[in-house]
Amino acid sequence: MLRNKQQYAQITAIGGYLPTTRRTNADLERLSDTSDEWIMKRTGIKERRILEDGLATSDMAVEAIKELCATYQKDITTIDALLVATSSPDMPMPSTANIICDKLDLTQVWAFDMNAACSGFLYALDMGAALVETGRYKNVVVVGADKISSYVDTTDRSTNILFGDGAGAVWLEPSKETGVLDALLLSDGKGIEYLNIKGGGSRYPYAMENWDSTHRYLQQDGKVVFKNAVTAMSQACQSLLDQNGLTVEDVNWLVAHQANKRIIDAVGKELGIEEEKALNNITYSGNTIAATIPLCIWEYKNQLKKGDLLLLTAFGAGFSWGASLLQWNI
Ligand code: ACO
Repeated sequence: MLRNKQQYAQITAIGGYLPTTRRTNADLERLSDTSDEWIMKRTGIKERRILEDGLATSDMAVEAIKELCATYQKDITTIDALLVATSSPDMPMPSTANIICDKLDLTQVWAFDMNAACSGFLYALDMGAALVETGRYKNVVVVGADKISSYVDTTDRSTNILFGDGAGAVWLEPSKETGVLDALLLSDGKGIEYLNIKGGGSRYPYAMENWDSTHRYLQQDGKVVFKNAVTAMSQACQSLLDQNGLTVEDVNWLVAHQANKRIIDAVGKELGIEEEKALNNITYSGNTIAATIPLCIWEYKNQLKKGDLLLLTAFGAGFSWGASLLQWNI
């Protein structure tokens, strides 16, 4: 049985923003020893969007929220809570959510950031939904945004092929009928060494003595991350379906974190879900960390029908991972 709630949080609007500058596979061929053929075959990525120097994560989030408001005639001044999932905040403090509030002239908002890496949007969506379900907040905006290009070594072919910048946002409102149905979110620390950005925090502050320049950049063991991502996302999806008495037949769309086309395909195969049901926009945006899921839904929004069941799943640094079930209501 789907979790029986007195009040649901429903997504009533969605917005997105991708920077205009493209980093193509041809650009990467000039920066490192790689090829368009290798990248397409191993990742399914053709190009990524890169935010220009001088702009930050909050700038993309603001554009996504404005796009949402313009498309769905939402009044920005009615936002009463703002949650921002990001691993690339504008600065350590204040929160990127605060900076967004300033840019949107919001002065009375419950706002903060959360970092659960690539799973951040699902964590923030679950929390945003819980805020609405309590009845205390009525117009909650959940953003996934990352300018991860600030942490990618453009000459490192093991990471430069994957990542791009972007932001996606959803607006949550109360409903007596349906909306965000359930979520299963998990994390452990066993993956820390396989995927991280070490520098800039309190352990390795910038410019400390013996500063290791690799601390500045995102480091990963791609193979370990790949295997764990497939297993963890598939298991989380299956457990969430089981605990709600559902099967993959009930699911209209699978929206997996856009990390690598082969990971998305492997999760679909593991679950036994038809390829046409798995949304994917990775070819022209790459892995935008916390933004992949809202951006992917945003790009497919005209194909989704009211009442469709969406199964979302993500995996990221930590490791942190999980799945969410929601009924589409726009
Ligand atoms: N171009 C050309 N050749 C390359 C490149 C490249 N960019 N990268 C590696 N190679 C070579 C390797 O040197 C190796 O050569 P060898 O066989 O002669 O030794 C060969 O290609 C195979 O390398 P692998 O690392 O085994 O390639 P793999 O198929 O695993 O693909 C990749 C690498 C794309 C990084 C993949 O492992 C992956 O996508 N992993 C998941 C990473 C990920 O999703 N990270 C983000 C998670 S979410 C978050 O929280 C940030």
